[in-house]
Amino acid sequence: MAITTCIFDAYGTLFDVAAAAREAAAEPGREAFAAHWPKVANDWRLKQLQYTWLRAITGAHTDFWEVTQNGLDWALENSGLGGDAELRERLLALYWELSAYPEVPAMLHALKAKGLNRAILSNGSPAMLDGAVQSAGVGDVLDDVLSVEDVGIFKPADVVYELVTKRFDCARDEVLFVSSNGWDAAGATGYGFTTAWVNRAGEPMDRLPWVPQHVLSDLTTIPDLTGV
Ligand code: LAC
Repeated sequence: MAITTCIFDAYGTLFDVAAAAREAAAEPGREAFAAHWPKVANDWRLKQLQYTWLRAITGAHTDFWEVTQNGLDWALENSGLGGDAELRERLLALYWELSAYPEVPAMLHALKAKGLNRAILSNGSPAMLDGAVQSAGVGDVLDDVLSVEDVGIFKPADVVYELVTKRFDCARDEVLFVSSNGWDAAGATGYGFTTAWVNRAGEPMDRLPWVPQHVLSDLTTIPDLTGV
């Protein structure tokens, strides 16, 4: 079936999750952090995601803001920066105003011009997503921002992907789902979406039962994949 609806993961896909640590590291007086920031950013992201999976498996749901803070606390302690409360607050504040990847606005405008539905489907809480959408200035080219908080479990639970088919009243194979997270693209493939994995870092394919239909290095060619 033809694609009618393009759905995007938020963090790492539209919004640059490493930007918070990178920007903080460039600020005056943060020489200690500047020496560690890539490791902190990587640990932060990995722990944040691991905590989402563990909370989903155990049924101990909390919102993404909580696991984002938990992941950062682990990452800072792992780099010997656990006592720096001011750095912690600064990194968390920057997480609310992440920049979008440069190609995002033009790509969303191109999808809008083709008459396709456009939305975010994210683990993020509605308030966090609102902050990111506002600071990236992409609110006017999105039809909706869907959050897992509506179902109380994180990706890749099927009920999360089902938020899309319910919201847009569409069949699964009408949806092009785009994520920079290999496991998210895989989960959405398993649900029945057509999927694109945005593999900016050139990582190996996740060893899971489902393989995304498309693998891209950035978002620029998304409008060409829709066949519209
Ligand atoms: C999200 C995370 C998984 O936005 O990046 O859902």
